[in-house]
Amino acid sequence: MRIAALKERAPGENRVAITPETVKKFIALGATIAVEEGAGLAASVTDEAYREAGAEVVPAAKAVEGADIVLGVQAPDVMALAGAKPGAWVAATFNPFRETERVAAYAKGGFEALAMEFMPRITRAQSMDVLSSQSNLAGYKAVLTAANTYGRAFPMMMTAAGTVQAAKVFVMGVGVAGLQAIATAKRLGAQVSATDVRSATKEQIQSLGAKPVFVEDVAGIEGEGSGGYATEMSEEYQKAQAELVSAHIAKQDIVITTALIPGRPAPKLISDAQIASMKPGSVIFDLAVAQGGNVAGSQPDQTVEKHGVKIVGYSNTAGHLAADASALFARNLYNFLSAFWDKEAGRPVLDEEIGDAVRLTQGGKVVNERLAG
Ligand code: NAI
Repeated sequence: MRIAALKERAPGENRVAITPETVKKFIALGATIAVEEGAGLAASVTDEAYREAGAEVVPAAKAVEGADIVLGVQAPDVMALAGAKPGAWVAATFNPFRETERVAAYAKGGFEALAMEFMPRITRAQSMDVLSSQSNLAGYKAVLTAANTYGRAFPMMMTAAGTVQAAKVFVMGVGVAGLQAIATAKRLGAQVSATDVRSATKEQIQSLGAKPVFVEDVAGIEGEGSGGYATEMSEEYQKAQAELVSAHIAKQDIVITTALIPGRPAPKLISDAQIASMKPGSVIFDLAVAQGGNVAGSQPDQTVEKHGVKIVGYSNTAGHLAADASALFARNLYNFLSAFWDKEAGRPVLDEEIGDAVRLTQGGKVVNERLAG
């Protein structure tokens, strides 16, 4: 069983899908590991550290040669897989709803694409869930970046020269990233409030010491679809939410938006008129900017200034914490493959529940039911 990990090719991608820690663990399972030269440098992992852990460190084509499994943060171009075993697995994120051509190319190449973002939200898969591990770090980084962009302090300070007021932070979307954003903003001393369409988040917001801001008494408020994810809301709900948010946003200094709906463009939560209602110097961090954005006019990797408000968002927020993000991502991949390791076969054998959920392509075809039609 040969497992290969390549250097990421996507612009701005600093993470790596394997670490010396997981190299050792895979070797303990009986695998041999090949890592492309320089693969970990942007995440502060040297080739030497991989070699010490027991990996072969070689050029890309050599690493992939004869590989049974290729690991990636973002799925490599199918051309990079030349020389891998027929039917080799590729475990990585695929952005399957958008990257349909890439998925088709994997099918055509006879590879088995395993999309880590399709990991089901079930208890036993929690340790394999890259969306959670990366969103958690992204929520933290969003608040720090907003704090850095903001021309004032977060905590209240009583000084001899007078009092500095605490910043008011509003978090929109309280999934994994939003919860970490609330916790981080609280630690920095801000006054924090938050909202979501899933009413189950109300208690979670309160338990972190923040104030919930919720639309009440409107049809379709539950907002929770399959797997704990949000669904699209009714028009009536969207209108009530926009009114509530408008009144609240005008009083905020910092807004962090994190709202996503799987397979759909990010919902628009903040309009240009709402931005105009904020105080000059306020900051919005749009964590959904790469999925189309929650905020009118937000641009990936740019600071956009509108009505005196700065709007920030990264195309790859977790990549700005590459060392920790890689360590967690690599563990997610190891937890996934090792959980299914069949000692006799000397390789992982996926079960139906998780295998069918993550598998996009097999036997030359696109096989995932979420991609059907
Ligand atoms: P996500 O990244 O898909 O979305 C972020 C948040 O935005 C969600 O809380 C969503 O409800 C909210 N949102 C969507 N549309 C909105 C709108 N119009 N206005 C305001 N908020 C809106 O969500 P994430 O972080 O992936 O988590 C979703 C849920 O899954 C959470 O309950 C989380 O605890 C659960 N989960 C369960 C796991 C497991 O059991 N293995 C693993 C990870 C998360």
